[in-house]
Amino acid sequence: MAFNFDQLADRKSDNSKKWDREFNEGYFGKLPDEYISMWIADLDYEVTPIIHKKIEEIVDKKTYGYIYFYDELFEAIKQWQGNKSDFSLNNEMISLNFGIVSALYVTVQAFCREGDSIIINSPVYNPFRVAAEVNHIGVLENELEVDQEYRYQINFQNLEELIVEHQPKIYILCNPHNPGGRVWSKEELQKIADLCLENNVILVSDEAHADHINQGQFTSMLSLDKKYTDNLIVLNSANKGFNFAGLKMGYNIIPNLDINNLFKQQLKKQGILEPNIFGAAALCASYTDEGKEWLDASYDYMVQNYDWASSYLSQEVPELKITPLDSTYLMWLDVSSLGMTGDEVVERLAQEEGILFQPGSSFGQAGINHIRINLGTSKEFVQKSFQKFADWCQKNKRQEDKSLE
Ligand SMILES: Cc1ncc(COP(=O)(O)O)c(C=O)c1O
Repeated sequence: MAFNFDQLADRKSDNSKKWDREFNEGYFGKLPDEYISMWIADLDYEVTPIIHKKIEEIVDKKTYGYIYFYDELFEAIKQWQGNKSDFSLNNEMISLNFGIVSALYVTVQAFCREGDSIIINSPVYNPFRVAAEVNHIGVLENELEVDQEYRYQINFQNLEELIVEHQPKIYILCNPHNPGGRVWSKEELQKIADLCLENNVILVSDEAHADHINQGQFTSMLSLDKKYTDNLIVLNSANKGFNFAGLKMGYNIIPNLDINNLFKQQLKKQGILEPNIFGAAALCASYTDEGKEWLDASYDYMVQNYDWASSYLSQEVPELKITPLDSTYLMWLDVSSLGMTGDEVVERLAQEEGILFQPGSSFGQAGINHIRINLGTSKEFVQKSFQKFADWCQKNKRQEDKSLE
């Protein structure tokens, strides 16, 4: 089936966090009349026809009562996850969340008490940190390092020292990594899982971006040996792949019965009990052959956007450092060679050019020199925005000799 990713819905007036003028002016300051938004990780494409059809069937009935976590949902999740690992998943291990973010909060509340800490690799998706901080739980940061190709690497020695010294209760891993797009190797995951097991740290693997792999082989934490999966919480949703984050639907996989029971008690305390009728239908529709066809086609389109944008930028502003896109549809750029922080670049680009990118600092202090650009939009928007961005860089970059004057 052919899909059209060139044509986008107009979302400037539907309360979208990504596009709504009022919301975005609160974040970026006054915007010009025309603007293009490429920050928050929402896709601009319409959902796949099969999702739309399932939602329409519900709308046509005009009844939206309570539903339960029905069999088709369990089966869809087991089948989709079965394609990613050999792990034998059963219904008991699966529970509901209202999106992965809600599950991050549940996890921290279930397993940490005041005075405890969690550990993360920074820069990283900000709710990892916020879920701990709002619950008065400490956050240990093992800062990622870049290699010669600007790919993130984990400093395992630091990681071990932090874990041994501070004994965090939970390690929250972004697998694959947002914002760096790293697809961790099985060896790396094994080392992390070993460190957690040896030090009684529960391992949480956020696999939100596993449906978008450009280079390398994704390894679900579920594919490690049983001794590791017995110490594991996997958080997932179809929201990144299939673009229905607003339906607030996701799921948790917890093989160990004791950890699972504690987690489920906390779900009850939070009243996370029944799925959203539309979210459940959308998840079932996504995890099908038709869903997969759309997923692959949409990701091909986004990778073409990345290939175009990275080759254009390499020519026009070669001093910018582009992180390779192993996973996700998010370009992660080191802009320090412009003589500005990511915050300054983002604020000025938004106000002066109407190009809305995301400051790297929103992924923690370790991202201060970066910006993140969402390529899940039309080719036309990518080309327009990168042309404006490159021109702006050429006009505004601070040469070392100039800034010394
Ligand atoms: C790593 C990661 N986890 C979770 C989410 C959000 O997932 P959900 O919409 O299921 O809460 C995102 C969104 O960008 C993300 O990047």
